[in-house]
Amino acid sequence: MTAPSPASGLRAHAVYPGSFDPPTNGHLDVIVRAARIFPQVTVAVVVNPQKRDPFFTLEERMEMLRECCGGHPNVQVEHFRGLLAGFVRVRGFDVIVKGLRVVSDFESEMAFAHMNRSLSGVDTMFLMSDAGYSFISSSLIKEVYLQGGDVSQFVPPAVLKFLAVKRPAGG
Ligand code: PNS
Repeated sequence: MTAPSPASGLRAHAVYPGSFDPPTNGHLDVIVRAARIFPQVTVAVVVNPQKRDPFFTLEERMEMLRECCGGHPNVQVEHFRGLLAGFVRVRGFDVIVKGLRVVSDFESEMAFAHMNRSLSGVDTMFLMSDAGYSFISSSLIKEVYLQGGDVSQFVPPAVLKFLAVKRPAGG
């Protein structure tokens, strides 16, 4: 299926930030949909996720995303450290894109959006996660995988490959 061209009238360069530890089908769905709306989308991997030590290194997370987004020429993958608002200001992004899965995401994301707009002047636009992905999170994927569960329906093939290295076959 060929992706429709970006919606007319929108000339914005969007940034989609996250930990992506690892990227899931839910992340990829948001990326693909954002890439249909905005002419340019930068997926920005935070260097040090605040919530935890990353399971995958920064390089691994970027490589997985690059493999997943390879078919979308208007998507690039970068990283940032420190405040997202600083990265947004320095790089001149027009809009921040985030996915919303469930109502509980909204409370924290609303605060982030207000703070990021106060600090950078840039708005956050939310895409509702596909209903089929609303329960998927990177943390849940890692937990299920490391306990031996099959996560193949929840992550792109490139991510399965990287997961297999973390837990070699039979391990
Ligand atoms: O995938 P995640 O972990 O939900 O992504 C969270 C992320 C990276 C978007 C958020 O933690 C972030 O923006 N971190 C950078 C530091 C920052 O700007 N903190 C203040 C947020 S208002």
